[in-house]
Amino acid sequence: MATLLGIESSCDETAAAVVRDGRDVLSSVVHSQIDEHAVYGGVVPEIAGRSHLEKILPVVDAALRDADLDFDDLDGIAVTQRPGLIGSLLVGLSTAKAIAFTRGLPLVGVHHIEAHVYSATMESDEDPYPCVALVVSGGHTTLYRADSPLSITPIATTLDDAAGEAFDKVAWLLGLSYPGGPSVSALAAEGDREAIRFPRYRAKDGSIGFSFSGLKTAVLYHLRGGDALAPTPAPEDVEDRADVAASFEEAVVDTLTKQTLRAARELGLPRVVVGGGVACNRRLRQVLTERAAEDGVRVHFPSPAYCTDNAVMIAGLGHELLAAGRTLDWSADALAR
Ligand code: KG4
Ligand code: ZN
Repeated sequence: MATLLGIESSCDETAAAVVRDGRDVLSSVVHSQIDEHAVYGGVVPEIAGRSHLEKILPVVDAALRDADLDFDDLDGIAVTQRPGLIGSLLVGLSTAKAIAFTRGLPLVGVHHIEAHVYSATMESDEDPYPCVALVVSGGHTTLYRADSPLSITPIATTLDDAAGEAFDKVAWLLGLSYPGGPSVSALAAEGDREAIRFPRYRAKDGSIGFSFSGLKTAVLYHLRGGDALAPTPAPEDVEDRADVAASFEEAVVDTLTKQTLRAARELGLPRVVVGGGVACNRRLRQVLTERAAEDGVRVHFPSPAYCTDNAVMIAGLGHELLAAGRTLDWSADALAR
């Protein structure tokens, strides 16, 4: 039996969790910085780093308290080492090193995106491997082939924006709150998904992949009445806001679904798992699940708390790394990419 403390600070959530044997969640604490970044419509790295510094120790304390454990009860520390905002990653890594060093505990460094894949498989009631994993968040939109928690190979990624980033930018154009995913999705429920035919990405060479910058530009030009050089109207002057939100969401969901199912088909894999903040999206859950079923493919979405950034997935994948003996030494650095 191994009990790990996981620490996550790669972007705008300060999180700590205590997890036993990679699956039994004893506690999970997440402090979101959303309110601090909302006025800027996106994450400001300097604000993120400073906020992590203020919150990291209280969040770690709360995770231990909720688990009713002490540092002495731990068998190891897992921390997000990459990728992310460098100043933010360093806060988590330095904290994890300090705890591990002073308590004589092993330290493992976790890849944040691989942890999202782990998170997506963690609650699955059947053996999820091998599978196609889609990680779709504010910073990433990437497809992987996952053969085990520690054997994850990228298949394709976005050429430009991440899907979550596109939601955030369209929310900004429509005068909706940050983060854009939930607010665009709520407005989309009142609109017509077929009202505007926004473009779906297709690679010129036919390969699997994603791109969302063309879609974002198409939304902008639509708001300008089809005249690229016209001024962008104030959100309250846009009459078809709900239709724009619904048609945009449909374009994102359609693109994510088509490319993911192509990957499953081409690799001959019968299972898909989805992780990252955009995996909370209701329409994506519905459309991907339905179309996958037509192909005989099963899709697993984690519960919303494990879609967005959390430390359970860090302690979970950390358990696998520790079991494989892949510990860090004290000179280990954080890596932005
Ligand atoms: O995984 P996450 O918490 O942080 C990153 O690592 O980026 O994902 C945050 C992203 C944001 O861009 C947010 O707009 C998006 O996930 N998101 C959603 C929904 N909930 C969150 N996008 C679409 N629909 C949602 N319901
Ligand atoms: Zn993430």
